Amino acid sequence: MTGRFITFEGGEGCGKSTQLHLLQEYLQKRQIDVISTKEPGGTEIGLELRHLLVTGDKDKMDAIAETLLYYADRRIHMTKKVWPAMAEGKWVLSDRFADSTVAYQYYGYNKKVEKSVLDNLYQVAVGDFKPDLTIILDIDVEVGLNRSFAKAAGMAEKETRHESRGLEFHQLLRQGFLEIAKQEPQRCVVLNADKSIEELHREIVQVVNERLGLA
Ligand SMILES: Nc1ncnc2c1ncn2[C@@H]1O[C@H](COP(=O)(O)OP(=O)(O)OP(=O)(O)O)[C@@H](O)[C@H]1O
Ligand SMILES: [Mg+2]
Repeated sequence: MTGRFITFEGGEGCGKSTQLHLLQEYLQKRQIDVISTKEPGGTEIGLELRHLLVTGDKDKMDAIAETLLYYADRRIHMTKKVWPAMAEGKWVLSDRFADSTVAYQYYGYNKKVEKSVLDNLYQVAVGDFKPDLTIILDIDVEVGLNRSFAKAAGMAEKETRHESRGLEFHQLLRQGFLEIAKQEPQRCVVLNADKSIEELHREIVQVVNERLGLA
């Protein structure tokens, strides 16, 4: 595969979607063939799964059921969209990927789903493939949640199922992402996201150039 796979991770409202689109514009200006996508919901079936996963009551399904649906979405996403695009040489930017499953369903739920279960599901659905680079946007959970709720107020369908979990959940989630980054420093970069959109974009561009040899 000649393309690259870059994932954006972090808690609610940290700026993933905003920064992903700015990076896409930057790469396009540099004549790189790049697409953006997201999890859950990067495909047609995925959008239906997304609706089930991110709207409605937070307790409508448990951590295990949720994990299986996220992995169904991921498998379809990889086989139908990410890998075919990469095989054509495209760069793929994904708004969330497998680290979110570890952060939410393992760390966030205080280890209700065993890590070995998540590792096995990853192996089944994704195999040995990994992102070339993962950008983790780190922010105070209340700052992020406030941004997220302000955004959701203007949306017809409220994608706030996870946002509605308590602060403690979001703190665990944040620590989870930092733990993941600590375990895989060669793949992950943590950036403080509590700064202006433009400043954070400049930092991301620098990281991408350095890590992926664009210079
Ligand atoms: N650096 C920033 N400073 C202030 N506001 C920001 C910043 N980055 C993004 N925002 C705003 O905060 C809101 C959330 O940003 P965005 O949607 O990019 O975050 P996200 O991580 O994708 O959130 P979600 O987890 O809800 O998908 C948006 O309204 C966006 O315009
Ligand atoms: Mg988003």
